[in-house]
Amino acid sequence: MAAAPIYLDHQASTPCDPAVVAAMAPLWGEDFANPSSRGHRPGLNAALLVDQARESLAAALAIPPHTLVFTSGATEANNLAIKGLCEARLARGRHVITVATEHRAVLDPCRYLERLGLSLTVLPVAADGLLDPAQLEAAIGPSTVLVSVMAANNEIGVLQPLEAIAAICRRHGAAFHCDAAQLVGHQLIKPLELGIDLLSFSGHKFYGPKGIGALVVAEDLELAAQIHGGGQEGGRRSGSLSTPLIVGLATALDLALADAPGRAQRLGQLRDQLWSGLEQLGGICVNGALEPRLAHNLNVSVAGVDGSRLHSGLRRGLAVSGGSACSSASGEPSHVLIALGRSRQEAAASVRFGLGRSTTEEQIKETLAFINQLLAKLR
Ligand SMILES: Cc1ncc(COP(=O)(O)O)c(C=O)c1O
Repeated sequence: MAAAPIYLDHQASTPCDPAVVAAMAPLWGEDFANPSSRGHRPGLNAALLVDQARESLAAALAIPPHTLVFTSGATEANNLAIKGLCEARLARGRHVITVATEHRAVLDPCRYLERLGLSLTVLPVAADGLLDPAQLEAAIGPSTVLVSVMAANNEIGVLQPLEAIAAICRRHGAAFHCDAAQLVGHQLIKPLELGIDLLSFSGHKFYGPKGIGALVVAEDLELAAQIHGGGQEGGRRSGSLSTPLIVGLATALDLALADAPGRAQRLGQLRDQLWSGLEQLGGICVNGALEPRLAHNLNVSVAGVDGSRLHSGLRRGLAVSGGSACSSASGEPSHVLIALGRSRQEAAASVRFGLGRSTTEEQIKETLAFINQLLAKLR
């Protein structure tokens, strides 16, 4: 069998931490009771575990525990935030603002609302991928009910100016939703202190399980449920809670934040090493600002090669992607890179490197040698 490719796609997903797997293990079998079954001891025990996990997550995010709504991940959290907030504020206004480089889990719910008759402004970004707060200031108005801007970009890793955005939203009475799927677990974030009203995140982006995430909903913020049923999560998201996944989410966040500063420092050095090696190969440019950016992300465009040949060559030695996991599935060039001003051809010949806990200096050297050989063949 061929050697396993070097995995550099940690922004698509991270492996579940073995300590997280161990914390979840008994909850699939022996301790399986429904945490809503408060009429018997096994159910009460499950409820206690969910409460403890909620408190631990709340402490990590500096939020009151009841502001956390568990969801199946960031996609669902984004849908709940965007559709739920706009539905609850229909009588107040019908204008939504977002940004061209958002994940499709934000853009698509916004476009869905536009089809239903709401008005949507999609702000452009500068060539470095950053939103200029003056653009938001110019677009926001009395009918704007929601502004949705991500914390860290999933393709180019740039960090948006959240404090400035929050201040503008506050001044205009618009709710601020932030998709923080790529930031939570990698940097400390205190959403309510920053002025964020709604914050989404997903466990598998920080060494937790897939299929679980949450939405932070600021106290007293109106939100219409999008999934109706048994009334779990204060009626904001019905459906039986998954005790193992919730315990896994809380354990993962604890562990991820414990080594986040050291990890960012180490991966930042490896990322810089990767970039300086690639730069020496010539005809390669970085997509997005190098600062402020997630330490574990690098995204480059390679001149003079065809995107599909580049990626079929890369696949033989590396697990990397061209854009987000979702845009690679559609085969379309990344809308994020197009928004930065790259041509379709440049966007297609782009590579996202997502470094992670398992990445070593040896792997970076092997990656550089592999790409060097590949480009010599392709150019
Ligand atoms: C920024 C961002 N938002 C949302 C999502 C969706 O997360 P999930 O697939 O876990 O729902 C992702 C994952 O790719 C992401 O990177």
